[in-house]
Amino acid sequence: MHHAVSSQDGNLFIESTSLSSIASQFGTPCYVYSKAAISNNFLAYQSALADKEHLICYAVKANSNIAVLQTLVELGAGFDIVSIGELERVLRAGGNPAKVVFSGVAKTASEMQRALELGIHCFNVESEAELELLNSTAASCDAIAAVSLRVNPDVDAQTHPYISTGLKENKFGIDINLAAKVYQRAAQMAHINVVGVDCHIGSQLVDIAPFVAALERLLALVDELAGLGIALQHIDIGGGLGVRYDNEQPPTPQSYMSAILPLLTDRSETLVLEPGRSITANAGVMLTQVQYLKSNGEKNFAIVDAAMNDMIRPALYQAWMDIQPISAGNSDNAVAESAVAKSAVYDVVGPVCETGDFLAKDRSLAISAGDYLCLMSAGAYGFVMSSNYNSRPRAPEVMVDGNQVYLVRRRETIEDLLSGESLLPAAVR
Ligand code: LLP
Repeated sequence: MHHAVSSQDGNLFIESTSLSSIASQFGTPCYVYSKAAISNNFLAYQSALADKEHLICYAVKANSNIAVLQTLVELGAGFDIVSIGELERVLRAGGNPAKVVFSGVAKTASEMQRALELGIHCFNVESEAELELLNSTAASCDAIAAVSLRVNPDVDAQTHPYISTGLKENKFGIDINLAAKVYQRAAQMAHINVVGVDCHIGSQLVDIAPFVAALERLLALVDELAGLGIALQHIDIGGGLGVRYDNEQPPTPQSYMSAILPLLTDRSETLVLEPGRSITANAGVMLTQVQYLKSNGEKNFAIVDAAMNDMIRPALYQAWMDIQPISAGNSDNAVAESAVAKSAVYDVVGPVCETGDFLAKDRSLAISAGDYLCLMSAGAYGFVMSSNYNSRPRAPEVMVDGNQVYLVRRRETIEDLLSGESLLPAAVR
């Protein structure tokens, strides 16, 4: 996977733009993405699929900034969405609804209506109850809904339990052993057109074997359905390819596809993929500034200006993310008393009033107050999971394209924070 950050004499760059210049222009915390890295990661899938009929539906949830989506639209991407909000983002970015698949366990009737009106590629249906609501909603719109059933293949993705989705105990999908019955019902519904099958077994997979096991189970189902007279047009194997945060060795899209494609020889179904993290994670970083250094006896803390509300992955999944100073020994002394960077082992923590508010633990860093740090691999599940907890305005997002830098989401203001709220009317006596 293409990594956005390079180092020249200890100074970090994204493409040909230095991170110091971005930190001083836009302030911190700040998300920074590389257009080239996003593009290259997408193109790696495209070239790995070579002449196999395919549709790569980028999972919008991973990073939904409309400039990121626009970058992918320009390369011909489709999109995997889980809400109407994400669908409207795809439209705003110029995306084609005919290349959109709609996932999620809890689609509402009004979401279904909007998606039907726009003519999306298909609904990834996750239960019989949802299938019924979709059929009746389509009937009321005088439409036919294209449907793929998301099956749960009961495969262990061997990843963090919170991001594992393909086990029987998870809320996702229809038990693969019951799927043929549901397909037969779907085939009889007047406003449903059965077009495919899909699964998604989890995220941050670093091994190919679970993907292969899941596909084998899907193919057995496809054959069973063919025997029942139900022919599918596409097979969607979801997203989930992992990235390197630390020393993981995830397969490249090339090696992933070379394990998958042989199973599909002599099959005419289009292969659909829903990659998220592997497109954007290593195409982005989050910049933050050290506010204070502090020691409590044995422990050293680097207190920075980014918090769990900006990046929740370490707090929520015990995720390990690399963090490095953005320049070799030049500290901006706005906050610092002493410019001498002492190397020590730090917990990098934020301003939020929670013990779980950390970005990194036990890291060897030579830093002073005022220094800027770069949290690596933050382009996926970063900004999108941010919140206003502790009434903290959300960070800006910046897109680098060579030596050009574009602000693609401005920093929120205090006014933004308060804009939806109102006081109660004055008490009536
Ligand atoms: N398709 C479906 C139906 C999904 O639920 C997901 C992610 C994807 C595709 C994309 O998976 P990816 O290629 O990004 O692994 N917030 C967590 C990750 C949650 C993933 C949820 N589903 C994290 O920060 O690790």
